[in-house]
Amino acid sequence: MIPLIPNFSQFELSPTLAANEQAAILRAAGKKVIHMGFGQSPFPVPQRLQKALKDNVIQKSYLATAGLEELREVTLDYYQRLVGYAPNDYDVLIAPGSKLILYALQMAIAGDLLMPVPAWVSYEPQSAMLGRKISKVYARFVEDGYVLTPQDMKDAIKAARDNGQDPRKIILNYPSNPTGLSITHKNLEEIADICREEGIFIISDEIYGQVTYDAEYRSIASVAPDITAITTGLSKHLSLGGWRVGVGLIPKQVKGLFPLLNNIASETWSSVAAPIQYAAIEAFKGHADIEDHIKACTDIHYHLNQYVANSLRDLGLYVPPPQAAFYNYPDFAPFKAQLNAKGVYTSQDLTDRLLSDVGVLTLPGIAFGADPETLTLRVSANDYDGEAALEAYLSGQNLDMLFIEKYAPHIYEAPSRYKTFLFE
Ligand SMILES: Cc1ncc(COP(=O)(O)O)c(C=O)c1O
Repeated sequence: MIPLIPNFSQFELSPTLAANEQAAILRAAGKKVIHMGFGQSPFPVPQRLQKALKDNVIQKSYLATAGLEELREVTLDYYQRLVGYAPNDYDVLIAPGSKLILYALQMAIAGDLLMPVPAWVSYEPQSAMLGRKISKVYARFVEDGYVLTPQDMKDAIKAARDNGQDPRKIILNYPSNPTGLSITHKNLEEIADICREEGIFIISDEIYGQVTYDAEYRSIASVAPDITAITTGLSKHLSLGGWRVGVGLIPKQVKGLFPLLNNIASETWSSVAAPIQYAAIEAFKGHADIEDHIKACTDIHYHLNQYVANSLRDLGLYVPPPQAAFYNYPDFAPFKAQLNAKGVYTSQDLTDRLLSDVGVLTLPGIAFGADPETLTLRVSANDYDGEAALEAYLSGQNLDMLFIEKYAPHIYEAPSRYKTFLFE
């Protein structure tokens, strides 16, 4: 028998990808599934980027590990305009997706991880793969969102140290997957102050930074560029997850960090596919057509996500008004007694029953670090034909209820399925 690592059973297929495979299997078997489990924005590749990729199909050489020089330069400028750092604050690392930069950062920064909850699904498994420990800090549910209070953060750091851990990094994700919520400037400042006092490095996952409904780009790097790495990329605001372009902005003041990441990259992924890197340059030049495309896609996300949030709130669930991206994180606590009576005790039970009873696929709160009995779900609003929806919007269709009915029929139908599940 060939031996595997002893704790391999804790590494499962990442829940979002697993949900996608499950939806495909059910649909192939003829089931009508509303897929609210996947985090993929459905819009098409902008013409300019299609052309740039075609023009560069002949590029075939390995590129520099950190990325193509011109791509790194335009990226640094682009995010400088959004975040407001000084150009000399950061080095740029291009990788096949920000997921790998997050992994490399977790590897490169010594010590354990402080993880605000709810948190994106991959932070904890990545930390476990690296043999590090995590301590959770639960964000508090308030009327219009989830808030990471300074006191809870300090308490979590102290508790971790009392337990013999060495928390030296935090991953902040705002706008957040799973909540669709951001963090206020004031709260970011408070968090930055604590991190500075406690010697904690900030990994700022800003992959949804340009899918905000108020079009304001928020970054903790605007107040703490010396201790913050930013991770972002093309996957969300340009719906280009399959292109695998991740961007790491690495603070120069943390001596040795950029060369270390570059070495990790050189021993693992080597470099991102050359044609993709050449094409990606056009995504960061600030072209008006690309920026308009991002705005139009965000308008549609806003319309659909608001509809889902409002409808679920009308049914009696706790749902803070989403501020960004394409996610809601409803809490079914008001229905706890009814759900328990149906045999639903955990978020996993809830996910399973929503799928088996009414054909709605979601992800359970437990995948985002919540306690098993917390009845939260991540509900995404991406199950529609993005090309048709975008074309209709650009040709003047109003973003109203008819739009949802016509261009996103699964999203339109979803609330009635939740209603059936809760009340029938
Ligand atoms: C919060 C968050 N961070 C990071 C990623 C990774 O994105 P990518 O590796 O495509 O850049 C995702 C993708 O779903 C995400 O939701």
